[in-house]
Amino acid sequence: TTPARVAPENRETWTGNTGFILAAIGSAVGLGNIWRFPGVAYESGGGAFLIPYLVALLTAGIPILFLDYAIGHRYRGAAPLAYRRMKKKAEALGWFQIMLSFIISVYYAAVIAWALSYFVFAFDLRWGEDTAGFFVGEYLQVSDPGVSTTIVSSVAIPLAVVWIAVLVVLALGVAKGVEKVNVIGIPLLGIAFAGLVIRALTLPGAMDGLNAFFTPDWGALLDLDVWIAAYSQIFFSLSIAFGIMVTYASYQRRKANMTSSGLVVAFANSSFELLAGIGVFATLGFLAFRQSVQIDELEGLTGPILSFVTFPAVISEMPGGNIFGAVFFASLVIAGFTSLISILLGVAATVQEKFGLSWRVSAISVSAVCALISFSLFSTTSGLLALDTVDQFANNVGIVLSAIVMSVLVVWVFRRGQLLRSHLNAVSTFHLGNWWLALVGIVAPVFLVIMLVQKLITLVS
Ligand code: PHE
Repeated sequence: TTPARVAPENRETWTGNTGFILAAIGSAVGLGNIWRFPGVAYESGGGAFLIPYLVALLTAGIPILFLDYAIGHRYRGAAPLAYRRMKKKAEALGWFQIMLSFIISVYYAAVIAWALSYFVFAFDLRWGEDTAGFFVGEYLQVSDPGVSTTIVSSVAIPLAVVWIAVLVVLALGVAKGVEKVNVIGIPLLGIAFAGLVIRALTLPGAMDGLNAFFTPDWGALLDLDVWIAAYSQIFFSLSIAFGIMVTYASYQRRKANMTSSGLVVAFANSSFELLAGIGVFATLGFLAFRQSVQIDELEGLTGPILSFVTFPAVISEMPGGNIFGAVFFASLVIAGFTSLISILLGVAATVQEKFGLSWRVSAISVSAVCALISFSLFSTTSGLLALDTVDQFANNVGIVLSAIVMSVLVVWVFRRGQLLRSHLNAVSTFHLGNWWLALVGIVAPVFLVIMLVQKLITLVS
């Protein structure tokens, strides 16, 4: 082997199981939980969405999370190196996964930067009455209609702060950088979020919000798109099939209870997601109450608009809204940042192993290059435009394709299923039976192929 393709001997590790679990929760719990899940669930059948969501979690989410862990922990490398060690030709899959993650990081960082600004704005409710006009016109300065390249300093400054923070944390390394941030950030996030949810539930109208969120539309279960939404949400939310959990597991000590950790991570992530749905809809219930309308008459219940237009409007209406707002946007920043550094750790480790660099050099140069790209796309007035296109490709098509290729290659082409299963069982207390191979090798890919075909048909037509 050439030295460039070998993970360095003095490879770092997490300090232990707790550090690994918190870091993995940090990667999983992110913008996807707070601004993606509530809107997706609401649009895809409300309470009925919980069924495809749970099915996706149990039949694909957790099994593929275990697969990611198994590959990283067994072959001890960031995704490309780990796959390469399994089978030389598989290296490309690792690069594809890391590329997807990298694409996500570019816009992910921008949303964190917006949240950072809004954290500051919350103190004096700077967004005023017209929160939509403020977000699009004053803050993002989106000039219609064409693409413009004027740098918007209101976005450029927080974006620079985010990337400098990423660079510093990454340069400090796995244990002293990434793990530290998570060990502090995740408990803090848990407390902040619990506070937000409790406050939201005590607002007038909260129960109507929950009703709107949970009222099942059983017809949705017959809609294939709803199932696609559930699977995409699970993949994005658990950070699986992105090469990131492979990389995280590769830094875990050799003796480590991998499957039990995985169950803890998956449970924590979904709990957080449900809690976010409850908190967000209780708050929206309050907004509807204030405006004397039904929830379904409200606009802007998904994506960036939910967090940066609708939420500011509610915060302004709420007694003590500035504190609620500051805590909300701080939570968004922490949740997002701990996910962003997981992606960058994956990219930096990949570059380090491929080119035989020292950790520092790789961490700093990777952050700098990503920062530049993120900067050139998002500090200009065309930022919002870029987000949509990127999200469509990476989240809907890219990740499903990645999961299919990964499970089929590992189980059927390279026939590493049994080996990986024994590997996980040898270190873990929660043992995987043949059911795991059946889920990873048959159930998940069959379903994912149906989804991908359906998705491509709708994209083309
Ligand atoms: N899981 C993160 C979220 O829910 C996003 C993410 C995707 C993080 C892929 C790492 C890799 O927001």
